[in-house]
Amino acid sequence: MQAAVCARLEGPDAITLDAVARPLPGRGEVLVRVHAAALNFPDLLMTRGSYQFKPALPFVIGMELAGEVVGLGEDVSGVHEGARVIAGAKTGACAEFAVVAAQSLLPWPWSWSAADAAAFRVGMTTAYHALVHRAEVARGETVAVTGASGGVGLATVQLARHRGARVLGLSGSPDKWPVLKPLVDAIIDVRDPAFATRVKEATDGRGADVVVDTVGGNVLERCVRAAAPGGRIVLVGFASGSAPALASNHILIKRLSILGARAGEASRTEPSIAADYAQVLPQLMTAGLKPIIASRRPLTGVADGLRDLDARRAAGKIVIDLVND
Ligand SMILES: NC(=O)c1ccc[n+]([C@@H]2O[C@H](COP(=O)([O-])OP(=O)(O)OC[C@H]3O[C@@H](n4cnc5c(N)ncnc54)[C@H](OP(=O)(O)O)[C@@H]3O)[C@@H](O)[C@H]2O)c1
Repeated sequence: MQAAVCARLEGPDAITLDAVARPLPGRGEVLVRVHAAALNFPDLLMTRGSYQFKPALPFVIGMELAGEVVGLGEDVSGVHEGARVIAGAKTGACAEFAVVAAQSLLPWPWSWSAADAAAFRVGMTTAYHALVHRAEVARGETVAVTGASGGVGLATVQLARHRGARVLGLSGSPDKWPVLKPLVDAIIDVRDPAFATRVKEATDGRGADVVVDTVGGNVLERCVRAAAPGGRIVLVGFASGSAPALASNHILIKRLSILGARAGEASRTEPSIAADYAQVLPQLMTAGLKPIIASRRPLTGVADGLRDLDARRAAGKIVIDLVND
């Protein structure tokens, strides 16, 4: 089968389209014919060896996909060949076939395209874990989201609004704001060193009740100033490449809660969180929370797609099409 393979830790330039053996499903796993996969920032980090999970080389790119089950491993129940599924894995999605844990499967809604289905899982799972499990966001609160035009950022914006929050999209890429604008109450430019003041102006001087940060670096440092007294800051990622030390005096004086969020790890270690995803994510699909797609590329376009993430060009998710739908 054809797959987008990373054989050297040299970033997107080292990705090649190779013929590799079709994987075999083991105990608790299923084989899926991939209709579409989607790219995520951690895929980019993995090509450089700078993500916390370091797959053995060579590895196939890709953490999420939609497709059709074509084979069952041992001890798999509740799923049948021919089922249309959404699935997650640590690697392996950007290939004609992928092996995934049966436990990770979600139903692929009939009314959704393969692209919509492939691009839903990572963003919405991360948004749900950050906003609901960690920040426990309440209706009427103000949520500020950094990296708001990225894949996780847009899913967080969508979910925050769906749960009745007022949403501030913090972004530094005006060319992507037309995508963000209809989804938020206001856009605040994070290139402005005084963006925390802009957040306060947009919240009657209080600051945001919840800040979900996907960027890190000096954006996160300033988010501490942008948070309301008693606010919660959820650390989701460091797309800027820097994980800063935070001013503990501000955290103490403002009685802030700093919360870490790891959506995948939480479900692997806490069964109640995995059960919650299985119940809630299909409800969010039914409610129409489709991912925002920035672009679609063929399997040969994985390296270019990761370059787009690297250059901060994508307003939403980059989808890799394997089967024309
Ligand atoms: N904790 C978890 O469970 C989890 C799960 C998945 C992903 N993540 C992390 O979440 C982050 C976002 O992932 P993603 O897939 O959504 O990536 P993405 O689509 O590339 O979005 C990242 C966004 O961050 C902003 N950004 C990027 N570089 C920046 C810089 N140097 N300075 C300021 N802003 C910058 C950009 O938004 P603007 O252009 O709008 O400013 C960009 O669109 C990554 O750090 C990823 O590792 C965490």
